[in-house]
Amino acid sequence: MITSIVHVVGARPNLVKAAPVIAAAADLDQVVVHTGQHYDERMSEVFFRDLGLPEPDVNLGVGSGGHAEQTAALLVGLEREFLARSPELVVVYGDVNSTMAAALVAAKIGIPVAHVEAGLRSFDMTMPEEVNRRLTDQLSDLCFVTSPEAVGHLANEGVPVDRVHFVGNPMIDTLLANMDAFDTGKARAAHGLPDRYVLATMHRPANVDRPETAAALVGHLHGVADLADLVIPVHPRGRATLMAAGLDDHPRVHVLDPLGYIEFIAAVRGAAAVLTDSGGLQEETTILGVPCLTVRPNTERPITVTHGTNRLVTFEEVVPAARKALAAAPASGGRTPPLWDGKSGARIADVIRHWKRAA
Ligand code: UD1
Repeated sequence: MITSIVHVVGARPNLVKAAPVIAAAADLDQVVVHTGQHYDERMSEVFFRDLGLPEPDVNLGVGSGGHAEQTAALLVGLEREFLARSPELVVVYGDVNSTMAAALVAAKIGIPVAHVEAGLRSFDMTMPEEVNRRLTDQLSDLCFVTSPEAVGHLANEGVPVDRVHFVGNPMIDTLLANMDAFDTGKARAAHGLPDRYVLATMHRPANVDRPETAAALVGHLHGVADLADLVIPVHPRGRATLMAAGLDDHPRVHVLDPLGYIEFIAAVRGAAAVLTDSGGLQEETTILGVPCLTVRPNTERPITVTHGTNRLVTFEEVVPAARKALAAAPASGGRTPPLWDGKSGARIADVIRHWKRAA
């Protein structure tokens, strides 16, 4: 069987980035391989439905595990799939373990790789995502860049300039395409939320894996809940430690299960402020004009700080920064980062078509 393009997705944010690329490349012979890194209905299937993504052609069912166990299972499953399908190009998204494993397998068996969201750098090698990004970019024949500074990062790492294509941000394509569907009133009613609330998401290993750190974080989240209702859809990664630390032992904390894409962004759109350690949410709040406090020492997405509503905060700064954000007038929206215009999927598909003709 000969396939032209294999898109590899595995984790929730991959789906948001892949949807506009797959739609724009509909004229090409393409298949979607889901690694199964995320597998709960609320972490995966609901995104396929919300985003109108085609059912994956195959789901490798890799599931969870330590980095070695998960990556090893990804390598074995993906190699089998790539050898069977012999695609001309493998397209990978973002910075999760599925991204890096797919790039590594493809490069080893001589299949060209395209990386969507190349060149982002936190310069923090304690993040598994930073390791994944660096390796994936070194192995990629086409590097699709969402933000201008990423071009410089790739150049500094010796990536030849003719591999690098500044195309804008496909995650924002998805956001803009669904703007009419984000019904804040409906999201409020569904979860019994007041008019004014802060929305939080926390899932980074550095914030939620260690019980002591999770407990300290919960203390600060309760401090925010003293100021305004706090809504927190809990990623499965942090659920056990955050709940053990008493996350819902506060009358104004609303702990929710993970939400689907449409419902989640509707809730974000209606929030007075967002408190997060997610990557994608820093970008989405930049476009929605919702103040974003990112509980991390660094970001691979600095354009959300220079152009958007994002600000990095330490644990100790969480409550004072939330107080300030809540006291301020609603953000009037910053500058839109260049090429975050809803056309990135189309640009990526154009580059792929051109590359195929030249190959
Ligand atoms: C992964 C990505 C991270 C991304 C996040 C988005 C890596 C290294 N990390 O983190 O960059 O921001 O996805 O969500 O790839 N689990 C479930 N159900 C699921 C999936 C996971 O219960 O459907 C639980 C399991 O206990 C698992 C844990 O979450 O052990 C972590 O899952 P994993 O895929 O390893 O990493 P994430 O923390 O989700």
